[in-house]
Amino acid sequence: AKNVGILAMEIYFPPTCVQQEALEAHDGVSKGKYTIGLGQDCMAFCTEVEDVISMSLTAVNSLLEKYGINPKQIGRLEVGSETVIDKSKAIKTFLMQIFEKHGNTDIEGVDSTNACYGGTAALFNCVNWVESNSWDGRYGLVVCTDSAVYAEGPARPTGGAAAIAMLVGPDAPIAFESKLRGSHMSHAYDFYKPNLASEYPVVDGKLSQTCYLMALDSCYNQFCKKYQKLHGTQFSISDADYFVFHSPYNKLVQKSFARLVFNDFVRNASSVDEVAKEKLGPFSTLTGDESYQNRDLEKISQQVAKPLYDAKVQPTTLIPKQVGNMYTASIYAAFASLIHNKHTELAGKRVILFSYGSGLTATMFSLRLHKGQNPFSLSNIATVMNVAGKLKSRLEIPPEEFVETLKLMEHRYGGKDFVTSKDSSLLAPGTYYLTEVDSMYRRFYANK
Ligand code: ACO
Repeated sequence: AKNVGILAMEIYFPPTCVQQEALEAHDGVSKGKYTIGLGQDCMAFCTEVEDVISMSLTAVNSLLEKYGINPKQIGRLEVGSETVIDKSKAIKTFLMQIFEKHGNTDIEGVDSTNACYGGTAALFNCVNWVESNSWDGRYGLVVCTDSAVYAEGPARPTGGAAAIAMLVGPDAPIAFESKLRGSHMSHAYDFYKPNLASEYPVVDGKLSQTCYLMALDSCYNQFCKKYQKLHGTQFSISDADYFVFHSPYNKLVQKSFARLVFNDFVRNASSVDEVAKEKLGPFSTLTGDESYQNRDLEKISQQVAKPLYDAKVQPTTLIPKQVGNMYTASIYAAFASLIHNKHTELAGKRVILFSYGSGLTATMFSLRLHKGQNPFSLSNIATVMNVAGKLKSRLEIPPEEFVETLKLMEHRYGGKDFVTSKDSSLLAPGTYYLTEVDSMYRRFYANK
């Protein structure tokens, strides 16, 4: 199989959201902390009728329908998620309801979990399967689904929720450059979920930022080495058209791209201009550790990187800024933003993605885009995803109601024997929603 990659995409996020500006006022933090400081505009959240299973059912059903895919054509289904509803039963098995109806139970794959990285692991599994000897000629399907919620405090505004479904196969408009991958994996306690009675993570915010940037540097270093081995020339930012980052909040994406510019400067790569060299010069002697803590370097490298950021990163930031951290779906929602914004001019472009999951696992990899042919074309993917339409039809919920909802969900988490309001009035037609969890913890969903 050639040009294996993503043929089709669909994204779903809850229509219920809270404005970051309203949340700042409600939380009593200084004005601008969430909007400018974190760089976030709005945050989606699940009400009591939605969860990671309902969102993924919606995304998968919609993808199959809108691209005209017969459920029998799916041979592998992989889910990435870090939202634990059941410690044994995979989210994938809930999605099998869609395929069983059509007589297809011959579908490999289960769930992958490591913080925000599970979706990338699932995607690599599907791409590797199509590229392998065990491929049976059918499509792979990858689903990233998460509800990111934090306990009250500074991390709460970095929540979000979404599900993304991606169809994988050969001759894709979004093709993997499979040899161009650099990973960094190590042991860290930056963000983890050891308390099985709570949906909330334990998070060391500052450590998680440093871990993210260290993993980024290491992946970029590996990636550049592999590029040089393969192409015989040094890689620099100028060799790619767009950079897509896992996006816990936009400020970290700004810092990350600036970090790549600093890396190019240190390696003396060709993309760094004279002005940048002069401005970054004073920082060239910092050790790695010092460079992560140096506030001047952070500020100046962001300034230097700004024009390149506007061209190569800004078009990828829309959905993460509007929906928040979607954990496993976050990086693919950033990529979806690029398709939404630029689908007419992406043919032939190279896009570099950086996936990060706390704990920690990270990979930088490369995609090459092609115009594609309907229904698997970049423009049709943009049409199907209808990002602008979905963002516009959302309902802003006051912070008080958002906080109330999270309290109710804390109470419900791990619970049994309850029925929900079954209120689907805010949901678009075709959306799945939770109706009941019975005395055996079995979950029931309806489709609007
Ligand atoms: N106007 C403008 N900017 C402001 C204002 C204001 N009124 N107030 C603060 N800021 C700026 C700060 O200067 C800082 O920006 P800087 O880093 O460029 O200096 C930024 O806003 C955030 O302020 P902090 O005081 O650093 O925020 P705090 O420590 O309270 O919380 C944090 C931020 C740590 C990210 C927290 O939200 C968190 O723990 N989130 C979850 C963990 C996370 O997302 N980690 C990322 C990688 S791991 C993952 O994906 C889950």
